[in-house]
Amino acid sequence: MSSTSATATADAQPKPNGLEGVVAASTALSHVYGDEGKLVYRGYDIHELAGKASFEEVAYLLWIGHLPTQAELDEFTGKLGQNRTLPDAVVTALRALPANTPPMDALRTGVSMLGATMTDLFDEVPDQDEAVALAARFPAILAAFHRLRQGEEPIAGRPDLNTAQNYLYQLFGTEPEERHWQPLETYLVLLADHGLNASTFAARVIASTESDLCSAITGAIGALKGPLHGGAPSKVLDMLNEIGSVDNVERWLTDALDRGDRLMGFGHRVYKAEDPRAEILRGMAERASDPDFFALSKTTEDRALALLDERKPGRKLYTNVEFYSAAVLAAVGLPGDMFTATFAVSRSVGWTAHVLEQLDNNRLIRPQSQFAGEIGKTFVPIAER
Ligand code: ACO
Repeated sequence: MSSTSATATADAQPKPNGLEGVVAASTALSHVYGDEGKLVYRGYDIHELAGKASFEEVAYLLWIGHLPTQAELDEFTGKLGQNRTLPDAVVTALRALPANTPPMDALRTGVSMLGATMTDLFDEVPDQDEAVALAARFPAILAAFHRLRQGEEPIAGRPDLNTAQNYLYQLFGTEPEERHWQPLETYLVLLADHGLNASTFAARVIASTESDLCSAITGAIGALKGPLHGGAPSKVLDMLNEIGSVDNVERWLTDALDRGDRLMGFGHRVYKAEDPRAEILRGMAERASDPDFFALSKTTEDRALALLDERKPGRKLYTNVEFYSAAVLAAVGLPGDMFTATFAVSRSVGWTAHVLEQLDNNRLIRPQSQFAGEIGKTFVPIAER
């Protein structure tokens, strides 16, 4: 037996699918000029910072608003270095995870545990000290998880090392080589913030409810994990490994597009020109990768761009940040399944800066939906349905 119903008449104009083009927040932190292929952090074009500024200087810039003086930087790096220890409860939780847990799930769990256990620090009102204390612990959580899943014990962070060096040190337990930590540092600079991307929006929505910092950042980690956002670079590596050789590029890409698959590392919601980070990462990959692997990546990129232009004319699909992130992070020595989590190490700065900015002038983020369901139904008791 069915009840009578009618379909609701639209009570609002349809909104752009996926909020494309909708301005949903105001920020002074960073901006993506999609048509020009330009990215700006607090007034600095990314080309001004990449390879010149340290990750710590960029974190200071995003959190505090200006590039630090030497004295300010010394004090700030000291603070970061003192925040690399994990409470026993967090290590115990990471130890309990199965070895095949995706690192992003381990990171999400670790951040959530930090919020639940470091209650003196992470109280109800996020502030600057919480942002530093949380972001500084991202590498420690990931390194501890990576060692535990291999049957090794976590090792303490070293306050004398910078973020990139310390991350590699805590992961592998050896003094990091410059050819590894330097590209990693530039990678961390490039990925630190990126306008109102999906994970940052998620963090701002949660913060706008006056929830706590760890809850907002746990939500952001969940959003970053998906392949349409930060989950692509390990899939790029899988794709390149599957392609295997330059001779196989054309056939592999054609088959993938014939199946209707998306090519990982291409396309972007905002960039309708080349992503400037992709351009910088391409150069880094050329210098840091094995020449055969770079040749495979470059041939794949060239053919993918040509095929996408042929099959999706007018869509302006270019190489995005994830494509050469794969080659750079592999050359740094990171396992493929740690790529997205390493992206999160960098983006933790942008996320927390956005949470603080949101709270500076907060109003609950609560949009409307256009109702497309039925109305007017009458309740039918269960025995009569
Ligand atoms: N491969 C094949 N086709 C693509 C790709 C791709 N990588 N990207 C977009 N398209 C096609 C779509 O199929 C669609 O075609 P249609 O109009 O014929 O249906 C058209 O281009 C427009 O695509 P949309 O999905 O509307 O674009 P949107 O702005 O929603 O997507 C996204 C952006 C999710 C990044 C998309 O380009 C994609 O899926 N890329 C592959 C995954 C990836 O690289 N993710 C990392 C993104 S970077 C980051 O977030 C850090």
